[in-house]
Amino acid sequence: MAKKTVRFAAVGDLHCTKDSAGSLKGLFAQAAEAADALLLCGDLTDYGLPEEAHVLASELANAKVPVVAVLGNHDFESGKPEEVCRILTEAGVRILDGEACEIHGVGIAGAKGFAGGYGRGALGPWGEGAIKQFVNEALQEALKLEHALAKLRTPRRIALLHYSPIIATVQGEPVEIYPFLGTSRLEEPLIRYPVDAVFHGHAHRGAPEGKTVNGVPVYNVAKPLLQRTYTDRPAFRVFEVPAETARE
Ligand SMILES: [Fe+2]
Ligand SMILES: [Fe+2]
Repeated sequence: MAKKTVRFAAVGDLHCTKDSAGSLKGLFAQAAEAADALLLCGDLTDYGLPEEAHVLASELANAKVPVVAVLGNHDFESGKPEEVCRILTEAGVRILDGEACEIHGVGIAGAKGFAGGYGRGALGPWGEGAIKQFVNEALQEALKLEHALAKLRTPRRIALLHYSPIIATVQGEPVEIYPFLGTSRLEEPLIRYPVDAVFHGHAHRGAPEGKTVNGVPVYNVAKPLLQRTYTDRPAFRVFEVPAETARE
């Protein structure tokens, strides 16, 4: 019997530490109950330590659904993002870094993203080499997202990021740090390759919902934000995609 919808549970910023053992498995079990797949929007670990990744991997053993993730800035802190990736990949997590995958006929494109600011306030590649390098990092991440989106042939698509592609979902954070929470350079690929929804994290004190300029819903699913905003529900957001149209 074909499913009528594909349900995705999304959460970011788990910030798993060595002491997190036992504290996330309940959440993952609930997510697996509520959805057909789990999407993790970066900052999977707190300091990017292999030990933290091992704790997360064992907590995820309770999520009996496919798990797709992107890394966040915290996963880079110890200079071992490849090891974090390897540990989670071996535990069955599909980590997207400019790649795409398909879950029950729905396409998922993922990249970490980067900072740089929004609209006319976005930092430009001008002046010192360090500034150009910083802006180039954001451009490379936007390109990764674009390549991932371009690969997808599914009629239904979801984009997964850590940094925010729009300013609306960082609102609530101190305005001085907006440029470090994401960049509208990440919105450009989403205009060229529209998706059904975008999920991101990173802005723990941001806003839960916004839209791209072309009307695509953007959800900030940073766990601390979800916990504070929706006190009556588990800390993940469920998004349903009609499955009939997910088939070609
Ligand atoms: Fe975070
Ligand atoms: Fe972050």
